Amino acid sequence: MNIATKSSFVLNRRHLLGIEGLSFDEIVGLLDLSEEFVALNRQVEKKRTSLRGRTQINLFFESSTRTQSSFELAGKRLGADVMNMAVNSSAMKKGETLIDTAMTLNAMHPDILVMRHHASGAVELLSQKVDGSVINAGDGAHEHPTQALLDALTIRRNKGRIEGLTVAICGDILHSRVARSNIILLNALGARVRLVAPSTLLPAGIERFGVEITRDMREGLAGADIVMMLRLQRERMNGSFVPSVQEYFAYFGLDTRKLAFAKPDALVMHPGPMNRGVEIDSTVADGAQSLIREQVEMGVAVRMAVLEALSRNLPNA
Ligand code: NCD
Repeated sequence: MNIATKSSFVLNRRHLLGIEGLSFDEIVGLLDLSEEFVALNRQVEKKRTSLRGRTQINLFFESSTRTQSSFELAGKRLGADVMNMAVNSSAMKKGETLIDTAMTLNAMHPDILVMRHHASGAVELLSQKVDGSVINAGDGAHEHPTQALLDALTIRRNKGRIEGLTVAICGDILHSRVARSNIILLNALGARVRLVAPSTLLPAGIERFGVEITRDMREGLAGADIVMMLRLQRERMNGSFVPSVQEYFAYFGLDTRKLAFAKPDALVMHPGPMNRGVEIDSTVADGAQSLIREQVEMGVAVRMAVLEALSRNLPNA
């Protein structure tokens, strides 16, 4: 059986650079469209033709497992021709600038460019130079919009709603584009967001985002419906942000004892990749309250929805 897409939702913009600037209706429209792709992805026949003829290029300047592979699967399931640029062996290694690489690729007429880059703002810069749609797959510590959308979809499917829920985001907020995109999205959908982190891992001025802040896991997890753990991003740290991994785990690592501070039916999330024994214990990561594997499944559906909703707005659609 082939499930036809009922939703005719179109993203009336050329690029998806962040959650910031998306309206409530755009976020809900993307989540509703994603639901249809969750159903499709559980079938044997997962192939559709809505992106047939389109070329999608994935440009990942930072390592990635789930984001890159799910964007690749998403494009292929919708019928696009998908190319993964091997950035490490590209001409950028020979000193070509990002813009020259972008212009070179642009000359090949890609319809969609998916980019991850270590510099905040690099994806927006690309979007100003090319003719197709650009999707942000993570730029520095700025935004990671499809991660926040897949997190929201996972929460909505398990809790039935997002409005009114208390979501505790814990750990390395400072270096996390996942935290930033999630804070904006969860606030837009009416959740109550709490940040739990040591002072060294909280960005200055973060309280302006309308969040509660605490440095104590007991206080931060009290009454939480969702506990979202973040990876300690040691590759982005220059200097000492935590005394030691052991001490970090003792105060901020999620284990069964700390999870008991949250609501009894609280659910645990992590964007991956996880550092077991650093920010999360295996008993919790693999336990009955964990949604971590479901997040990965939702990632493919959300990326299909984003590709489909943007492509409906491309010329000649
Ligand atoms: C996140 C990222 O790259 O921002 N991972 C992901 O996309 N699943 C989080 C992280 O690297 O810790």
